[in-house]
Amino acid sequence: FHVEWDMVTAEKGGYDSFMLKEIHEQPQAVRETMGARIDQEHKRVILPELKMSNADLAKYDRIYIVACGTSMHAGLVGKDVIEKWTRVPVEVAVASEFRYRDPIYTDNTLMIVISQSGETADTLAALREAKKSNVTVLAITNVVGSSVAREADEVLFTWAGPEVAVASTKAYTSQVVALYLFALYLAQVKGTLAAAEVAEVVDHLQDIPAKIASLLEDAEQVRRFAESTKGVNSLFFIGRSLDYAVSLEGSLKLKEISYIHSEAYPAGELKHGTLALIEDNVPVVALATQPDIYEKMVSNIVEVKARGARVLGFAIEGDTDLAKSVDEVIYLPSTLPMLTPILTVIPLQLLSYFASVARGLDVDKPRNLAKSVTVE
Ligand code: AGP
Repeated sequence: FHVEWDMVTAEKGGYDSFMLKEIHEQPQAVRETMGARIDQEHKRVILPELKMSNADLAKYDRIYIVACGTSMHAGLVGKDVIEKWTRVPVEVAVASEFRYRDPIYTDNTLMIVISQSGETADTLAALREAKKSNVTVLAITNVVGSSVAREADEVLFTWAGPEVAVASTKAYTSQVVALYLFALYLAQVKGTLAAAEVAEVVDHLQDIPAKIASLLEDAEQVRRFAESTKGVNSLFFIGRSLDYAVSLEGSLKLKEISYIHSEAYPAGELKHGTLALIEDNVPVVALATQPDIYEKMVSNIVEVKARGARVLGFAIEGDTDLAKSVDEVIYLPSTLPMLTPILTVIPLQLLSYFASVARGLDVDKPRNLAKSVTVE
């Protein structure tokens, strides 16, 4: 009797890759990141780890979010949420650009850096530049003791657990949760949301882990669509507002591990150039989860359909209209529109995973890439 066993197989816990394991760990990662930061009795957010006083926090009237790759994409969701709930303007920047800029800081500027590893060279350099200008830096990171965690003034840890796969999944959803919590907390401190509004968001946030779990149980349709992209050279993601932010992440993930060329486009911008690339059978993933721009999004879908695109739509459950304009629909559990990105990204992660598997690629170790980019 002989059992094939090695350490790596054991660490994958029965999954065939770290990425798939980490995708499935997301309900837990999100739950842990919310953890003790929600006051159950009063349905509000508490951030005991912040050292700054509420008076200090309330004074910030301008925020920079600086990060790379997937962490930057989490920042894009954070921007919309912070601006909506606190009315503080937020600029999101790629760290490799930001570090060589001459940013406009005031006494009331807060910088948020986001890094799963806490060791990304450009993010760390941007943090150090900001500190030289005496700007307060709040870090969102997954690694206790990392350089970013040690050098930032304030730290909000994501409690996603170790992320091994090069493609980031559970770190992204945990970062988005940390940003929701920060935005809510800032709104409480600034008084820009009423207690009942905060409580409503908190209630919906607490339902998110179960909704992620339900999306993970039902991956068959995404798998079939991913397998149908095997011979495809190019794939487009389109969306508006928060759906555009998530499109960028879906597109990055697909490029990174399936090597399929892909672009994410703000749907309203298509007719300014990119529409020329849409022809018969080009796959388009169209996200239509945001009610305030839903009709506009459907018009854009009709435009790509008219050019022959094969469209996979994403809609909120109960939407009976989108199916009329697209080839197939993935339905997402209903939640507040601002919280939808954390659900939308799950089938997009699975899409890239299944596309990579269908092409026989190494899901966990894509070519030319490292998990942690510690050199410039
Ligand atoms: C994500 O799938 C990528 N591997 C990459 O974009 C990553 O998010 C980026 O390198 C930033 O890493 P960090 O969060 O550790 O700073």
